[in-house]
Order: sequence, then structure tokens, then C-alpha cells
Amino acid sequence: MAKMIVALGGDGIGPEVVDAAIQVLESMGLDLEIQKPLCGEAAIKKFGTPFPKEAIDLTNESDAILFGATEQASVIILAYLRWGLDTYANLRPIKYYEGVPTPIRDPEGIDFVIVRENSEGLYPGREGDLSLLAEKLPDYRDRLGKSFADYGAGKFAIRVFTNKGCQRIAKFACEKARERKAKGFPGKVTCVTKSNVLRESCGLFQKTCEEVIKNYPELKYEHFYVDDMARRIIRFPKDMDVIVTSNMFGDILSDLAAELMGGLGMAPSACIGDKYAYFEPVHGSAPDIAGKGIANPTASILSSVLMLEYLGMKGKAEELENAVKAVYREGKVLTPDMGGKAKTIDFTRAVIEKLK
Ligand code: IPM
Ligand code: MN
Repeated sequence: MAKMIVALGGDGIGPEVVDAAIQVLESMGLDLEIQKPLCGEAAIKKFGTPFPKEAIDLTNESDAILFGATEQASVIILAYLRWGLDTYANLRPIKYYEGVPTPIRDPEGIDFVIVRENSEGLYPGREGDLSLLAEKLPDYRDRLGKSFADYGAGKFAIRVFTNKGCQRIAKFACEKARERKAKGFPGKVTCVTKSNVLRESCGLFQKTCEEVIKNYPELKYEHFYVDDMARRIIRFPKDMDVIVTSNMFGDILSDLAAELMGGLGMAPSACIGDKYAYFEPVHGSAPDIAGKGIANPTASILSSVLMLEYLGMKGKAEELENAVKAVYREGKVLTPDMGGKAKTIDFTRAVIEKLK
């Protein structure tokens, strides 16, 4: 039976890059039924909401979702895809393709993945006035011995790590490292925290990774603090295999690491849960170039490569990735972010041409 894919472009350049990915997928003649309900900024104009019922229903029935980008309007879509569908593992591959301009001197062979916990940490945004904590937790003292009231007026943000959340992301990272090891990668998990300062929350994340990896005796394990890791990713990118980290650190490190592969125009991602998965470029909605037809659709096309892998179409995924590779190797059709003059549609056609 055909797999049902829902395309949710979202805001800004989101719809343009998702359209490009759909055109490429449609040219491949795959057993996919692709639905394109209106959503995001365009849906507000017509339905008064960025995420109309039809789009929600299709999303709930989908085998996989292709998402574009969020500005303001589609934040509720993103929230639904992440928390409503519990897509807790955000896989962000960092892989250099020959011909892609990058500031790195010797980029050939950079190929690792960031596994970002996608559901916990600071993200659900538990924020408020400090006076609330002062009132509810009058006896609480921080490491400096101070109560919340001692600080006077201000705001707080709460970072939550659960045992279950840490366990499932650690397991996901280990499974990924095992899968990559079978393809010839080192089989190494690098856990990234700030447990020297956040001894309880980051401490739990680190300890859980150390526990879970014991079930994978064939894997190597290491741990670095996030500040040190930011430096290592630039200095030793080829030492990386699978990096596992919490939500906000993963967000920051994945933008940083995307530069190794040529920038955000290139970087794909997959958000995977036990029942649902959605696929989106790491980049945002780029409102400055939205509607101009010059957005680089590579990250969205490579996200659909991850989608095909997820759907078990590994051969087709490889074909598509190879087509993208070939376009960059030739270097004739490059979008402005890559120093070229090609439009989104030119790049898309070039990929489709390579698939023939
Ligand atoms: C990302 C984005 C999102 C995030 C924003 C749009 C909320 O930056 O997917 O990396 O911070 O997770
Ligand atoms: Mn981000």
C-alpha cells in the first residue's frame, strides 16, 4: 500500500523548499500518496488558522510528514509535530558533499550525526515571574544559599529532564551508532552536557547515557562539556560519529555544525518518535528571501532522503542522495547562498535530471 505523506510547508521559504522536495519525490515514481493541505501563513488568510482541521487530520493519519519552516504563524504546527506526536529524537546529520563551499580547509569525509533530545529541557517553555517561585517554594535554596525571594523581581525558566526522556534518547543514539558501525563508522557515542554546573539535570542525562551504553559493548563512549564540544566540532570534525545531547544544546550545536557542510541551506533533519516522524530542514523561514524563488531546497530534499530511509526505501533514498551529490560535484547549478545564480526551480530540475 502507498505510504501517505503530508507536506506542511509552514511559513516564509518553507512552502517553496517543501514544494521542491515534493517535485523531486514525484519525479521518482515512488509508491507515495502525497497530501498538501493548506497550512501556515497561507492558511491564516483563508481559514483564519495556521493549522486547519484538514491538515491536522491528515497529519494524524500520515506515515511521514515533510515540514518546511516556522516564522510566527506555524509555531503551533511545530509544537504539534514535536509534542503532539511525541517525536522525541531529532536526528541532524552533518555530512560534507564534494563541491559544496565551506569555510573548513579539509572538509572531505566529514560525516557524523547529532542526536538532539527533542521533547524536554528548556523547550516546553516553563517560564514566569520569579515572584511565583518565591511564593510556591519559600524554603528552596540554590547553591548560593539564596531563596527565590532574595533575588527580587525577575523571571525564571525551568529545565526538566525525566528518566524516561533521558533513557529513550540515549537508546536512540546507541541504536544509531550501532547501525552506522555496521556501515563502517567507528561506533562511538559522544554525550554532551554541562554536568559540571547542572549536576542534577545534566548529571541525569550523562549518567543515563553511561548506563544505556552498557547494553552496547561494541560501542565506544565519551563525554564532553558543551563549551568544549563546540570547539571540538570545528577542530576535530572527523573524530565525530554520534553526538547525543539535550534539546537546547542540540539546537545550538547543530547550527554550528551545519557550517561544516556548507551552511544551513544544506542541513536536513528527522524528528522521530515511536509512532510518528516528521522531516524538516534545520534552517528557518528566511523571511528576507521568501517568495523570491531563490531559496536553496537542498536541506528539504535531503530531509526527504531521511524520510525515504525511515519508510524503508533505502535504495531510493540512496538514489536521491546521489543525485544531490552529483549536482554539487558538478557545481554548475548553485543557489545564491552557495555563491551561484540558480533559482530554487533550477536546482530542483538539476536534481530531477540526475535521477533520470
Ligand atoms: C530548530 C529551530 C527551532 C528550535 C525553532 C524554530 C523553535 O531553531 O528546529 O532548530 O529551536 O528547535
Ligand atoms: Mn535551531
